[in-house]
Amino acid sequence: MNNINYEMIFKRKSFHVFKEVIPFTPQDLEEIEQQLQQLMPLSKDIHTEFRLVPKEETTSTRGEYCILIYSETKEGFLQNTGYMGEQLDLWLASKDIGVCWYGLAKPKENQYNGLDFIIMLAIGKTNKQYFRKDYTKCSRRENSDIWNGQGSPDLINVVKYAPSACNSQPWYLEYKENKVILYRTRGKKGMMPLDKMTVINRLDLGIMILLLDLYFIHNKIHVIRELCIDHPIGNELALATDELIMNAIYTISEPKKSDFYDSLVPI
Ligand SMILES: Cc1cc2nc3c(=O)[nH]c(=O)nc-3n(C[C@H](O)[C@H](O)[C@H](O)COP(=O)(O)O)c2cc1C
Repeated sequence: MNNINYEMIFKRKSFHVFKEVIPFTPQDLEEIEQQLQQLMPLSKDIHTEFRLVPKEETTSTRGEYCILIYSETKEGFLQNTGYMGEQLDLWLASKDIGVCWYGLAKPKENQYNGLDFIIMLAIGKTNKQYFRKDYTKCSRRENSDIWNGQGSPDLINVVKYAPSACNSQPWYLEYKENKVILYRTRGKKGMMPLDKMTVINRLDLGIMILLLDLYFIHNKIHVIRELCIDHPIGNELALATDELIMNAIYTISEPKKSDFYDSLVPI
């Protein structure tokens, strides 16, 4: 994740509309293809593939191309997809390429190399001026709704800007002893039916895990991350409660620069 620029958390935004699309050059497309090979998985045993296709090969009406994400549907695959897709969102922002995570759009092929289509990102090269200028002005839940710990630390004031489906922000963070615990919970109501929301929200949790990792790396805070097993997919309505479902535990220890990055390799 060395080539992910932390500052992009504050520059990125969802391009629901592209005011200007600058056509990609063959070199741009080649560079994106190369980046698709460099994404770090959250769970290295989940096989995931990415395809860069013109938007006409999908139902997307946004941008110029789409990045289609296909995956094995093993335990944790949605969090893994969110984690890898958000690396792209941030990297593309650093290249002035606008992105919209697009849960409602569909590709022509629902299967690729035996993997299921999970979600796409609509992308288009655009002008710098269309990116976010003041991230503090974008709509997010109050810290007190998503954070249980002392005060309002820097950590929550950064990671709360993670994107999420329908801006539902289905997360809750707790700081206990030397641990930051990330839970999935019912987020803000969106237009999507609750059972579908409970599934797509697991992608959002993967996005949040990426932002937490980047926060700890950027601030040189040594952590050990453990992933937790969310409920299995199925019987979604029964799970769409205010229950807190643990997704990750970060144990903070002394900063030790040499093994800091090692602690974040996929488990
Ligand atoms: C998993 C996921 C799916 C999304 N699906 C859609 C979508 O289908 N259509 C859309 O316009 N925006 C979609 N979004 C974008 C969200 O609406 C957006 O992230 C949220 O409103 C926060 O705004 P921001 O990304 O500009 O910070 C999706 C975002 C995520 C993370």
